[in-house]
Amino acid sequence: MPLVSMRQLLDEAAKGGYGVGAFNVNDMEQIQAIMAAAVETKSPVIIQASRGARQFAQDRYLYHLILAAAELHPEVPIAMHQDHGNSFETCKSAMELGFTSVMMDGSLQADGKTPASFEENVEVTRRVVDYAHERGVTVEGEIGVLGGIEDGHGAGGTGLEHITEPDQAVEFAERTGVDALAIAIGTSHGAYKFTKKPDGSVLKMDVLIEIHKRLPHTHLVMHGSSSVPKDLQDIVNQYGGKLKETWGVPVEEIQLGIRNGVRKINVDTDNRLAMTGAIRKVLWEHPEKFDLRDYMKPAREAMQKLVSQRMREFGQAGHFGDYKPASIEEIAAGYRSGKLDTRPSLAGAR
Ligand code: G3H
Ligand code: 13P
Ligand code: ZN
Repeated sequence: MPLVSMRQLLDEAAKGGYGVGAFNVNDMEQIQAIMAAAVETKSPVIIQASRGARQFAQDRYLYHLILAAAELHPEVPIAMHQDHGNSFETCKSAMELGFTSVMMDGSLQADGKTPASFEENVEVTRRVVDYAHERGVTVEGEIGVLGGIEDGHGAGGTGLEHITEPDQAVEFAERTGVDALAIAIGTSHGAYKFTKKPDGSVLKMDVLIEIHKRLPHTHLVMHGSSSVPKDLQDIVNQYGGKLKETWGVPVEEIQLGIRNGVRKINVDTDNRLAMTGAIRKVLWEHPEKFDLRDYMKPAREAMQKLVSQRMREFGQAGHFGDYKPASIEEIAAGYRSGKLDTRPSLAGAR
């Protein structure tokens, strides 16, 4: 099966009332882990690459690895997504390479750190939407700013500084026509999200619920959605790691989100922890080993286990054969005719 439109995956998820994990990749083993999990659980998948991943792997390698995944597993619908595009040019280059979906994160300026104004965000996102939809490519935008405590894309801070305003989310959706919208509800990228199990004072699920009520036709996206499980932290630390105690986003909060319009859930850190723990364990227990297959195989298996678990928890498991994926040309025709228009004033009227 060729790579498919993320918009179609999310529309189907909305019909079925489930969410779809979007897992970050940097190398072959991570792509293989996601595909093995998709086959195991019969799930459609979103594979995403950040700018850092594209640079690290040289993106053409990633693209061809994902094509290999599609060739080997024609039964699995795969959307290939640019995570946190920082500019029109980044998104355009992803589309030229063959990504079927892009995120234009105009909540930050092109440096990926400084919060952008609302007008700047609308302008750059609208430009990406016009260019992408003509080509049948899906666009995710972001309104509000995530926290970014360690590495990754973000403005720094705790994640509470720039919580999304529901009114602005509605205006943004109307003026940009994005297919999916990432909102800031207190999460942040990386392992250090919360200093205790989060409650409503730091994780604003009420804001998410309000936005979904006001924007029922726009797919919501939760970034920074790793749960940072204690058992994965413990494995890393047991074998020489030095992680400080920390809390992620509880799966039950994500499931509450899924019941309220969340269709795409971004997970990277949990997989990093799973793979790092497995690698550390092998090297700790067998310091004589130096064949990378001795530690990459368990690392890949650890990621597969985590991804399979999330696919079941998000509800996408079992859904990979529910529908016939449309071609990207058919999706482009849908945008041209207005059938796929998400702007609240038009989508609501249909
Ligand atoms: O947006 C954050 C993702 O975890 C990707 O992180 O930019 O270090 O590849 P990265
Ligand atoms: P985590 O750091 O919580 O895995 O978030 C990943 C993410 O949002 C990628 O865009
Ligand atoms: Zn993110």
